[in-house]
Amino acid sequence: MRLSPSFFYKFIIIFFIGIIVILGANKLKAQDNVAQTQIQPNTSNNSSHFNNNLLNQKVDSVLALMRINEKIGQLVQYSGKWNMTGPSSSNSDQYKLEKLKKGEVGSMLNITSVTSIRETQRIVIEHSRLKIPLIFAYDVIHGYKTIFPIPLGESASWDLKIIEQSAAIAAKESAASGLNWTFAPMIDVSRDARWGRVMEGVGEDTFLNSEIGVARIKGFQGNNLSDNSTIAACAKHFAGYGFGEAGRDYNTVNIGENELHNVILPPFKAAANAGVATFMNAFNDIDGIPATGDKVLQRDLLKGEWNFNGFIVSDWGSIAEMEVHGYAKDEKHAAEIALNAGSDMDMQSFAYETYLEILLNEKKVSIAQIDDAVKRVLRIKFELGLFDDPYKYCNEERERTEVYSEENLAIARDVAKKSIVLLKNENKILPLSKSIGSIAVIGPLADDKNSPLGNWRAKGEYNSAVSLLEGVKASVEKNTKVYYEKGIDLTIPTVKPGENQFSQPLKFNTTDRSDIKKAVEAAKKTEVVLLAIGEDAYQSGEGRSQTDIGFKGLQIELLEAIKAVNPNIVIVLMNGRPMDLSRPTEMVPSILECWHLGSQSGYAIADVIFGDYNPSGKLPVSFPHNVGQEPLYYNQKNTGRPYNARSVTFSAYRDSPKTALYPFGFGLSYTTFKYSDITSSQTKIKVNGNLTVSVKVTNTGDCAGEEVVQLYIRDLVGSLIRPVRELKGFQKVMLKAGESKNVMFTIDSEILQFYTANKKWEVEPGKFNVWIGGSSEAELKTSFNVEE
Ligand code: NOJ
Repeated sequence: MRLSPSFFYKFIIIFFIGIIVILGANKLKAQDNVAQTQIQPNTSNNSSHFNNNLLNQKVDSVLALMRINEKIGQLVQYSGKWNMTGPSSSNSDQYKLEKLKKGEVGSMLNITSVTSIRETQRIVIEHSRLKIPLIFAYDVIHGYKTIFPIPLGESASWDLKIIEQSAAIAAKESAASGLNWTFAPMIDVSRDARWGRVMEGVGEDTFLNSEIGVARIKGFQGNNLSDNSTIAACAKHFAGYGFGEAGRDYNTVNIGENELHNVILPPFKAAANAGVATFMNAFNDIDGIPATGDKVLQRDLLKGEWNFNGFIVSDWGSIAEMEVHGYAKDEKHAAEIALNAGSDMDMQSFAYETYLEILLNEKKVSIAQIDDAVKRVLRIKFELGLFDDPYKYCNEERERTEVYSEENLAIARDVAKKSIVLLKNENKILPLSKSIGSIAVIGPLADDKNSPLGNWRAKGEYNSAVSLLEGVKASVEKNTKVYYEKGIDLTIPTVKPGENQFSQPLKFNTTDRSDIKKAVEAAKKTEVVLLAIGEDAYQSGEGRSQTDIGFKGLQIELLEAIKAVNPNIVIVLMNGRPMDLSRPTEMVPSILECWHLGSQSGYAIADVIFGDYNPSGKLPVSFPHNVGQEPLYYNQKNTGRPYNARSVTFSAYRDSPKTALYPFGFGLSYTTFKYSDITSSQTKIKVNGNLTVSVKVTNTGDCAGEEVVQLYIRDLVGSLIRPVRELKGFQKVMLKAGESKNVMFTIDSEILQFYTANKKWEVEPGKFNVWIGGSSEAELKTSFNVEE
């Protein structure tokens, strides 16, 4: 007997309604041809939020209603920058519109504002057969409209609470504007200053990437994805994207299993454990296999061993790009490889929508794989509460009141000041007195209200940041004379003011020196010069790799001209990557690393310059003496020839030091800290045992300050060579002048294990060294043995 389709649907619906009633749970509102269901608010915590039987039943009930085109549709993500409320402007928009109406799209990215999002959702809800809501994604990387420091800068705070808070505000503003998914955090360990996207991550250390990645995920997702103020996060780029050869974006990655498992993957494992809703794969290949088509990484490891139940989105066009890589013979083949490898959603390749059904008929992909991918997407939509109310994030009142609020800006200022790193401060030139007689604020970035917003600025408005000059003026007393001179332009505009620079190249000013004289005059008549130099916002970010990490254009010339008339220079450095600071370090007494600090930049910098806040930031990346040292990172291997000052045949350079100019973990304060009395509770432990190591930290200066106390270990002999040092813990402690505190760390098998030659996470017996101190060059040391 053949069942008619409508009888079949009714049967399925009645069956699942029955199950849910029996479970005494929520009412399932599914009607003929309508997949909208009502679910109870989800009160489970993140780590268990997918292991919910009721939720899985609801997902299954929707899946059972779906036709193959609708299933594949859930795996399709389009970018839509057009205004959905008006007539569509191009054929491609018209095409997308038709697909939306047919319910053949699962997600949109780059549609922003409550109005546009509601209108787009309405197309699906009013026209499509099953009315499965869309999920709306956007790159909310360091704030939505209230812009926080670039992620690399924020990471310099080593302050997990404020990092979580900044992500929570970004989520709140995004959710208030209709969005429900961000493509963040980026947790690609990145050790090459040439790579433009180093600005978007946490830097060179695996442990720090894990800790900060989890803090950001908690901030975005909260405890409950269906909360109106939280959004789904995305751990990206899985995996290896930060290791592109020669720091060139999208470039090939050649690493072995040791590097992959011990350096690159742990932050992703931590993200999966923290319940991140989604993962994004990556543009790069690793040793010949594009990440997007890597089954071992996605299906076996992430979804298998790690038990990740969310979904994986491809990176933009990365499925189709497998053809360009030379890994797939055409786009159809690319779709086959990607789905089989476990890549669930196709961002802008149009490959799944074109080929999955054909591939299914040809038995090159299976319905079980398609169903699994669809279920993963539906589960997140249920989790977000979108089946409950597809418009739940669309509330104009919230968009008006909760975005860019005074309260959010105050937090952005707090985060920004905590992200600043004091690199040099000879003769205690900083902090300055607010009643100082005169200050010159000079440089191409001194009154720049745009660069502090950084590259991935979401809805941050052009020229909306507080400039350094504005911050200084707001801080000093009224008798202080503040002189401003730009001196030079850093760039020559290549787009109109306010136009999106994101994918447009920059052009640097290398010839126009006409205003240097005026800057020199200002410097001559003042006590101190604040010289704002560094990088334009668009020198870092996607596609912004550079072979030169020095000061572009005429900046060093400007510095030299100023230095000739006034040596009291504080460089206020604004940048998105570790820079070559060798010349400035020789020339000036003080350097303040200010990154691109976001909306409140100028106020935050002034807070530090005038001593309202004592800087506590520490570098999350090594700053080299010169670009030739890149990739440079503290946690290197020793090599067989680490050092011999009397011979050339050791691992070093003939024309440069091999260590960093400013090392990982380094940062000064207006006070000083002394480390002493390192003690460990035991000298021997078993492989599954633990011990505590503690240290006394004393504030030896004359003002209160915060110190990031860092714990490093070295496993001296391993079945695979272990790094010379590895960060394994940190605590931020506040100490009054003269005060001492004991800081204690527990060292256990979690900390001591690594991915060994047995291809397992194990603790290997042997000797371990431990250092505790204020940077990766900490000297205070103890050791212990691990026994079988
Ligand atoms: C490409 C980038 O690599 C990725 O990180 C980003 O989220 C997507 N584009 C979407 O904009």
